[in-house]
Amino acid sequence: ALPAAAESLIGRMTVEEKAGQLTLMAAAWAGGAAVSLNPAGASSNFDAQLGEVRAGRLGGVFNGNGAAMAKRMQTVAMRESRLKVPMLFAADIIHGFRTVFPVPLAEAASFDPDLARRTARAAGAEAAASGIDWTFAPMVDIARDARWGRGVEGSGEDVLLGRMMADARVRGFQGDRGLDAPDAVAACAKHFAAYGAAEAGLDYSTVDVSERTLRETYFPPFQSAFGAGAPTVMASFNEISGVPATANDWLLTEVLRRQWGFDGLVVSDYTGDEELIGHGFAADAREATRLAFLAGVDMSMQSGFYIQHLPDLVAAGEVPMERLDEAVRRVLALKLRLGLFDDPFRRIDPRREKTRVRTRETLALAREAGAKSIVMLKNDGDLLPLPRTGKRIALIGPFASGQHDLIGPWNVYGTDAEAVDLATGVRAAVSDAAMVSVTAGSGINDALDDGIAAAVAAANAADIAVLAIGESQSMSGEAQSRSDIVVPPAQMALAEAVAATGKPVVILLRTGRALALSGAVLNAPSILVPWFLGSQDGPAIADVLFGKVGPSARLPVSFPHATGQEPYHYDHKITGRPNPAGPLQPYKAHFREFANEALFPFGHGLTYGTISYTDLDIGDGRLSADGVLTIRANIANTGTHAAEEVVQLYVHDVAASITRPIRELKAFRKIALKPGERQQVTFTLRRADLQFIGRDLKPTVEPGRFQLWVAPSAQAEGLSGAFTLA
Ligand code: IFM
Repeated sequence: ALPAAAESLIGRMTVEEKAGQLTLMAAAWAGGAAVSLNPAGASSNFDAQLGEVRAGRLGGVFNGNGAAMAKRMQTVAMRESRLKVPMLFAADIIHGFRTVFPVPLAEAASFDPDLARRTARAAGAEAAASGIDWTFAPMVDIARDARWGRGVEGSGEDVLLGRMMADARVRGFQGDRGLDAPDAVAACAKHFAAYGAAEAGLDYSTVDVSERTLRETYFPPFQSAFGAGAPTVMASFNEISGVPATANDWLLTEVLRRQWGFDGLVVSDYTGDEELIGHGFAADAREATRLAFLAGVDMSMQSGFYIQHLPDLVAAGEVPMERLDEAVRRVLALKLRLGLFDDPFRRIDPRREKTRVRTRETLALAREAGAKSIVMLKNDGDLLPLPRTGKRIALIGPFASGQHDLIGPWNVYGTDAEAVDLATGVRAAVSDAAMVSVTAGSGINDALDDGIAAAVAAANAADIAVLAIGESQSMSGEAQSRSDIVVPPAQMALAEAVAATGKPVVILLRTGRALALSGAVLNAPSILVPWFLGSQDGPAIADVLFGKVGPSARLPVSFPHATGQEPYHYDHKITGRPNPAGPLQPYKAHFREFANEALFPFGHGLTYGTISYTDLDIGDGRLSADGVLTIRANIANTGTHAAEEVVQLYVHDVAASITRPIRELKAFRKIALKPGERQQVTFTLRRADLQFIGRDLKPTVEPGRFQLWVAPSAQAEGLSGAFTLA
């Protein structure tokens, strides 16, 4: 229930003013950098938008252009509109605001939820200092098909990691002082639901998943986000088994409200209600409005359908006034919790906006997060870390230098121009910058005239070639599905030519997704995956390259052998004819070319240390119904470099009434080990950790035998054992 003053406000609203509260539009602030980046804002006119605010026909705007714009609009709302309801300012703060942090997929690779909480806190505080109340983040979609471009905005393929990152990011954005704190922004879990399950990884395409898979795989990160206090959720663009999410009353009302008790705000995605016509689900705009609204979408983004059609639908008795009031109540409740009724300008302070962004602390955090997000796939012969002195280094590739492809996709407010590139980071890290040469060698998709010859000459003149290759940032993100997830052919030709010089090659793989690696890239002795690291991209890569920081990240998505394996996820089912590894056997579940396993699996990532796993102890191997199974293992670093190891606990339910994945991650610990140090890691398993969605679509636990692994990846044998659940 709202306080009496807010309830009485609803009582005084016309139906049109109510529909206005439920209408959200891209800010039309002409000429702003954010507007030009965001196609949403390009078309309309700011004065016309102020007119809508004045008339009470607009409840909020998104992706605007900072405090000055917000101040002007809020002033019109508070001084010139009839009921003086404050506007809500939203934005896509996906991985940083002006300080840009690693893309969320990279940050998930850190296996460090507290790091994600800290970067979300910093991003939330920066955004709030620019007048933003509400972020359309975190994206908590599980992504199991690397062809889908939006996996870069989420936490990868695993449910447990996805849940932990969802929880951390919500807490980070919102802070711990209440949503009315001037540096807090409200979170929005998106995209509900199963947006990442698009057929063939084609963005916006059909999703047809079972209710069990929804409940077991796609829903849990949303439940974690709500558990952490996310007060809003965004409906996804996709249909689910024939019913678009935006008009899916089972999803938005039965599951979300009745079963989970969510009492926050549901917002559509950008023109999601209008797209019901495109889906072939609604005949026209009026019907689309009715279907979306009655299914449970409270606020409509960008189509203008609610302000255009809700008044008429209410007048015709097709939409009950109570449902309209309920939706308005949710918008006002959010505005109240954000403190906007007390002080509509609490986040709008042009002076704070100038001083609270890109501070020394936030840039240091970007560098720390960057280094902690880099995964080392290979390091044959301990080529890495590179020495800082005495070696000539040829930096080669389209990503070797330049103010491009540093911050990664979907960042509205940060710029590549403000980020530090690889060459700058490397030159600052070595003792003599003159020992570093920089050669593009190739474009991202096209060969350069004499590019390969120049790259070969540079490699020949150096002791080590560092090849910075991969995807541009425009190759992942929204609407960037790829039918072949490979390093573009022009860059493969470059890699082959550089490898043929015989110089040791380090690959720096820029990517927003898992890639299928082959040829000279796969065969290079060392491969680091720096993804897109944001404002401090170059320095963060240099920190790991030269060993100031050891690589400690792990793959949050499996890298397949080939595109044809997608969708691939480590926790696949076994099948009746398994052939997951080893020699290919006739009439078993494998491809003609390779076994049904990843080239580099989920959880994989090397360190500069030498890590051994010994002494698995699972006590008597019996877990009583109300008890705890304690699992211990010794993890040692027998190498000469310090290391951070991500120790992972997987289980497999040997026989169950619903077939279970080959392995499921149940817990992980990230531990720091000095050279020569050994630590005992302890995990505990309870009955609830072994829960799955049963035949009746309800959570269930079945007694029986379980296999268990304490291992450095989803495919590594590590230490294995078995236990029984009574
Ligand atoms: O928040 C985004 C969403 O993820 C994709 N469509 C546009 C929205 C607003 O910018």
